[in-house]
Amino acid sequence: MESTGAMSRPSSAAPLLVLTVAVLAVLVSTSVADPEPIQDFCVAVPHAGAEASPAYPGFPCKPASTVVSDDFFFAGLAGAGSTDNRFGFNVTAGNVEAFPGLPPASTVVSDDFFFAGLAGAGSTDNPFGSSVKPGNVEAFPGLNTLGVAINRVDLAPGGVNPLHSHPRAAELVHAITGQMLVGFVSTAGKYYSKVLGEGETFVIPRGLMHFQYNPGNVSARAMTVFNSQLPGVVVAAPALFGADPDIPDAVLAKSFQVDAEIIKLLKSKFKK
Ligand code: GLV
Ligand code: MN
Repeated sequence: MESTGAMSRPSSAAPLLVLTVAVLAVLVSTSVADPEPIQDFCVAVPHAGAEASPAYPGFPCKPASTVVSDDFFFAGLAGAGSTDNRFGFNVTAGNVEAFPGLPPASTVVSDDFFFAGLAGAGSTDNPFGSSVKPGNVEAFPGLNTLGVAINRVDLAPGGVNPLHSHPRAAELVHAITGQMLVGFVSTAGKYYSKVLGEGETFVIPRGLMHFQYNPGNVSARAMTVFNSQLPGVVVAAPALFGADPDIPDAVLAKSFQVDAEIIKLLKSKFKK
């Protein structure tokens, strides 16, 4: 009897073991990997000033306009290091510390983790009746490498935060005051929307076109929270009708199935 019990144990434990190993493998691969890049490149620069672009994943970037081919080149591994030591070996590092530099960490203070830039409402006195104040890593450098950002959206009655998308983040819209119609369109072309009241939240999946609109007769305010320090934004109308250089009228007219005159009118509104 005893031996039967002992024999049945390995067969019931095997699937559990396989599952445990698989879960551990996933956990290890996701926890040790560096995060995905959020911009084409970020050539690290030591002692970067305010003119530097935001850093990712953790070092200030050289301004893109000053990046040259040599920044992508490293000759530090061309020669052998000395093995004339008691271990008889040498490892020469080719990580970001060697290629091309480390910023100082000793100057970080509490204020680097504080941001008051969203405390006041932005002006909604514009054709859209809306204001979006960004709290991303460009405005709030303390967010660097943390994978979060926050905006403040104010809408006058009838105001709209026009159709746009964020290529790098999902967005939570949390209504603080007033009413807000929030909507997005899925890749299947389905429109999802909700009118939010105070304290209510709606989530917009990453990359999908969305907007906020104030259907009420008092001002509305929301805080929007992103799972990226730099979500990026593509605002539909200026991206299409205000691109520089122009998208040809013929392309836009055919795409939207309208006359070129309508495209010219739209371009006159969105061209800078
Ligand atoms: C709102 O949609 C925002 O991007 O802040
Ligand atoms: Mn948005």
